[in-house]
Amino acid sequence: MTITLASDEDGIAKAAALLAAGDVVAFPTETVYGLGGDARSDRAVARIYAAKARPGFNPLIVHLPDLAAVEAVAVVGPKARALAAAFWPGPLTLVLPLRADSGISPLVSAGLATVAVRVPAHPVAQRLLRAFGGPVAAPSANPSGRVSPTRADHVLDGLSGRIAAVLDGGPCAVGVESTIVLADPDPVLLRPGGLPLEALEAAMGGPLAMGDDAGKPNAPGQLSSHYAPAAGLRLAATQARPGEVLVGFGAVKGALSLSATGDLVEAASRLFQTLREADRLAGPAGHIAFAPVPEHGLGRAINDRLRRAAAPRA
Ligand code: TXA
Ligand code: MG
Repeated sequence: MTITLASDEDGIAKAAALLAAGDVVAFPTETVYGLGGDARSDRAVARIYAAKARPGFNPLIVHLPDLAAVEAVAVVGPKARALAAAFWPGPLTLVLPLRADSGISPLVSAGLATVAVRVPAHPVAQRLLRAFGGPVAAPSANPSGRVSPTRADHVLDGLSGRIAAVLDGGPCAVGVESTIVLADPDPVLLRPGGLPLEALEAAMGGPLAMGDDAGKPNAPGQLSSHYAPAAGLRLAATQARPGEVLVGFGAVKGALSLSATGDLVEAASRLFQTLREADRLAGPAGHIAFAPVPEHGLGRAINDRLRRAAAPRA
């Protein structure tokens, strides 16, 4: 049985108590819902992997309430510090050297010498992290390889009966996962996400190097099938073919639309919800087509997720 907790004082206290008992709890962040567990507990982290049926070699992000808490688990270099000052709390994850005395379960970092950390801005996430008082490992709260959840009922669709509770904080405002950056010595973008590349580059006063898996639209060998709906997916479509559900953007109209006005912020916040709706309309044997989305601002993260959703299934 998975219980739904309201995001009031009582619900947050119950969620924190479940985390302290080594259980896993889904909770809202400004990007997507996370599936949280005590990052110091091998058992809790193993439960996260088990609930998601996630391959064990894929490391998790550790969520902390502020920079001081981050410094207890990771080494914050000069560039990381500048990015943290500019963008935390917010949709930015930094990959940092893991401290020897971090106490973080090796299952979290999958044995790497680095750890991904993030300070979420969502008030419910902040209150939960402070009530629990420890580091919370949390991947997105969906079965591995499926569309990320941006509402509590999305979490239940995928994980009901497999996790202790979901803390309901309403829909996520940003709608795509955090931007991941390796900050020091030289910044590298590892995943485009809810913090636009342009904002990062403006704060750093120069361009960011692209990691192997980020910002490479024409490298199909590097695309794995993540975020996958059941139906097949075609990108950059301007018209629906017979039997296709077209998801529009701006001037391209469809049965659904990411944003009728061509607003990338609205489109990001609606992306995963719209993928679910299109999947339902198309049915398992059906096809989904997406209108082109410009490759700037949050459009980068949207296109990254769509390319993965359209990639051949592993
Ligand atoms: O917005 C988000 O980031 C959400 C919310 C819940 O915070 N979380 C999220 O987690 O998207 P997840 O597990 O779905 O994605 C974590 C990503 C993975 O692609 C993983 O490879 C990368 O972070 N990652 C984690 N630790 C890393 C490390 N030490 N080095 C490089 N990449 C790392
Ligand atoms: Mg995920």
